[in-house]
Amino acid sequence: MMNSPICSMLDIDFPLLAFSHCRDVVAAVSKAGGMGVFGAVNLSPDRLREELDWIDAHVDGKPYGVDLIVPNKFAGKGERLDTGKLIDAIPEGHKDFAAGILQDHDIATGDLEKTRGMSANFARNLREEGAATSLEAAFEYPIKLIANALGVPPQVMLDMGKEHGVPVAALVGAREHAVAQVEAGVDILVVAGGEAGGHCGDVSTMVLIPEVARALREIGADTPILAAGGITTGEQMAAAMAMGAAGAWCGSVWLTTAEAETNPVVKDKMLAATSRDTVRSRSRTGKPSRQLRSPWTDAWEAKDAPDPLPMPLQSMVSEPALRQIDKLSQGGHAGAKKLATYWVGQGVGLMNEPMSSGQVVQQFKQDFADAFERLSNFFEV
Ligand SMILES: Cc1cc2nc3c(=O)[nH]c(=O)nc-3n(C[C@H](O)[C@H](O)[C@H](O)COP(=O)(O)O)c2cc1C
Repeated sequence: MMNSPICSMLDIDFPLLAFSHCRDVVAAVSKAGGMGVFGAVNLSPDRLREELDWIDAHVDGKPYGVDLIVPNKFAGKGERLDTGKLIDAIPEGHKDFAAGILQDHDIATGDLEKTRGMSANFARNLREEGAATSLEAAFEYPIKLIANALGVPPQVMLDMGKEHGVPVAALVGAREHAVAQVEAGVDILVVAGGEAGGHCGDVSTMVLIPEVARALREIGADTPILAAGGITTGEQMAAAMAMGAAGAWCGSVWLTTAEAETNPVVKDKMLAATSRDTVRSRSRTGKPSRQLRSPWTDAWEAKDAPDPLPMPLQSMVSEPALRQIDKLSQGGHAGAKKLATYWVGQGVGLMNEPMSSGQVVQQFKQDFADAFERLSNFFEV
């Protein structure tokens, strides 16, 4: 076991955490000595139970965690959730714009309205009461970590973590958010730089990690930091730990592994992509998130594009179209293959070889040791 507070808090050998929506990735990373954290944002409590049943049965007793998204700001918060009302709140111009991109690529748009309501679970889980039922489901399992993606975790998450003796982690993309999270009682900070796949801020990991580490020292907090954003190798992990992190949290690097359920068309694009093939855009969820560039994201970045709607409305515009694109691209549709995209960080430029998730963990350990040796050699006279 490495001598990091993360290893002792989570009872793991190597302080590498894997965020994934794929249960197989979660189990494989935990079994390899790191820790898988299952991203449950789109799942109903019953579906979450099914997935956690599977993970629990396949993880050989190793620790695993669960991640939910409960942001502080989104359209409809505080009102009773009504999918119909949310759909009505979407301007026709946005729906037409999304449909137009599909039509320009020879994709029929008749099914979009049918799938729009499916974003309701996402919206449901964004609410504190929705998150509470998902949390209850999560705590029926021996999880070792609960994480919240956007903003300060709701009090119910902090309370349940304490009650079950499970550390609560929160993602932050800015120094002041980190301080607010620590003051709210979070146990572990996932500090994600602007290179990250998915939602991210605009300060790079290289600057943000030492900035947050310094801020924590100034307020006398010893909350461990997991570095995130752009990390796809053990060398980068070692660098982040040299800057004050106690471990790493990675999302993108698992997307091209054998276990990931990533659309194979997108997997191939990722393996071929360079670090400049991503874009940070509000067009997918309403908040800035980094994704693979494609004609879909380019269209939303164009001058004539409508301004993205607040969360969760923008997802109700983008997800039905992107689901259609995913489905058709896997059937070989040329236009859909061009448009296909998914969240990924700039580290995609370093993800060039298909590997299993276990192999990725082994490679991280090896590269970490090599980086340590490289630095040690600088001291030899
Ligand atoms: C495909 C994908 C989906 C993501 N979804 C979530 C999510 O639901 N909840 C969350 O906390 N973070 C999510 N993230 C962000 C990750 O937790 C993590 O911060 C990020 O992946 C780290 O940067 P990296 O992608 O460069 O490794 C997602 C990331 C990716 C790549």
